[in-house]
Amino acid sequence: MSFLIKNGTVVGPQGPNAADVLVDGERIVALYAPGTAPDVPDTIDATGKYVIPGGVDAHTHMQMPFGGTQASDTFDTGTRAAAFGGTTTIIDFAIQRTGEVVQDGLAAWHEKTAGNCHVDYGFHMILGGVDDESLKAMDQLVATEGISSFKLFMAYPGVFYSDDGQILRAMQKARDNGAMIMMHAENGPAIDVLVKQALERGETDPYYHGVTRPQELEAEATSRAIWLAEVAADCPLYIVHLSASKALEQVAAARDRGRNVFAETCPQYLYLTLEDQLGAPGFEGAKWVCSTPLRSKHESHQADLWKGLKTNDLAVVSTDHCPFCMKDQKEMGIGDFSKIPNGIGSVEHRVDLLYQGVVDGKLSLGRWVETIATTPARMFGMYPKKGVIAPGSDADIVLYDPAGRTRISVDTHHMNMDYSAWEGWEIAGKVDTVISRGSVIVQNGEYKGHAGHGKYVPRGLSEYLV
Ligand code: URP
Ligand code: ZN
Ligand code: ZN
Ligand code: ZN
Repeated sequence: MSFLIKNGTVVGPQGPNAADVLVDGERIVALYAPGTAPDVPDTIDATGKYVIPGGVDAHTHMQMPFGGTQASDTFDTGTRAAAFGGTTTIIDFAIQRTGEVVQDGLAAWHEKTAGNCHVDYGFHMILGGVDDESLKAMDQLVATEGISSFKLFMAYPGVFYSDDGQILRAMQKARDNGAMIMMHAENGPAIDVLVKQALERGETDPYYHGVTRPQELEAEATSRAIWLAEVAADCPLYIVHLSASKALEQVAAARDRGRNVFAETCPQYLYLTLEDQLGAPGFEGAKWVCSTPLRSKHESHQADLWKGLKTNDLAVVSTDHCPFCMKDQKEMGIGDFSKIPNGIGSVEHRVDLLYQGVVDGKLSLGRWVETIATTPARMFGMYPKKGVIAPGSDADIVLYDPAGRTRISVDTHHMNMDYSAWEGWEIAGKVDTVISRGSVIVQNGEYKGHAGHGKYVPRGLSEYLV
């Protein structure tokens, strides 16, 4: 089927531009100056709307087994919610646990996703154990499985943790095969000491999850990861879910030295705080337990993160979508914050939440699109298939209404969560129409897609690799 998106303002990293977009089948075939397109019978009127590439959320954990339970969104519910929020591609994390075979972990994720996704998806691979076998597997995944990024953990000893020697070996391998190392940069062994001491003092509320993960332990791990990557002949390194000023300083300094160091942040770190959310009365704060944790409003984290998005020291905004319900899941940590499963769910709200940066004058329109769609696609080897409105690219397109408003609530969201981390937020802008590979999947708030529409996207190497 062929159709023309007419009268809209196409936005890419270079900024807004009035243009009509011709879609044929699953692809964009041409852009026309207004009024110059050929006549086609099917049109979508985009008057007053921004026409942007579908969002690319490079960090999600659908149905992830974690902390004795499993993230509450399945690939079905989570990718449908993503579609409602204007995200047409996710990159989820397949997992190898310590002692498991990497390829088995990957096969398990293909099994969970096949036939269940509403939007396209790729995988990063979590390495829970770096040894000779998993290092060999890295080569195979890059060469034949379309997986060009591997996440390691400096946190969670006994679960996903890798020591510095293991990290260095994986980085050396990545330097050889062109993969990106993604790092959960928090000093896990030191955090475990602080957690134990806090619990011994009777500090059991969710708030202490934040207090026992101070920004210094994020900054220290970030710095250590950066220096290890430099020792590994400047292995490309991507710091995930960066939350704190001091960690950002480390990234900025490395980039100023010309290093292949990149970072993402997430909406929760741009808007929510240790005191107002994690410190909510009683057990309420459990809703916002995630790692890295929300930071103090009495420090300059949020202003620094917004600045980092402007300077490109933060290149990407992803969600780290890892939802758990309060009932039976977060509640596992009543009386002991360390047993609260870590994660926040926002896959439906990232595009809207970041649009507030445009409304508030903190981001240009072009930078908004770049951080939510174009750069994640380029960073993780999906460009120009994803992340851009250009001839030949997949017709993943969002019509975004700057005059609309979005009210976020558990009563209206589509994620499988029994609360919203953003309850009652009323914000400017609204996702109007969502198109995935040429199919309209959301229109006027109505769902028109289906599970199984989303396809696996094998990825190439990062474009940012030098
Ligand atoms: O709290 C978080 N971030 N949960 C998801 C797992 C991770 O470390 O990204
Ligand atoms: Zn992490
Ligand atoms: Zn994560
Ligand atoms: Zn379909």
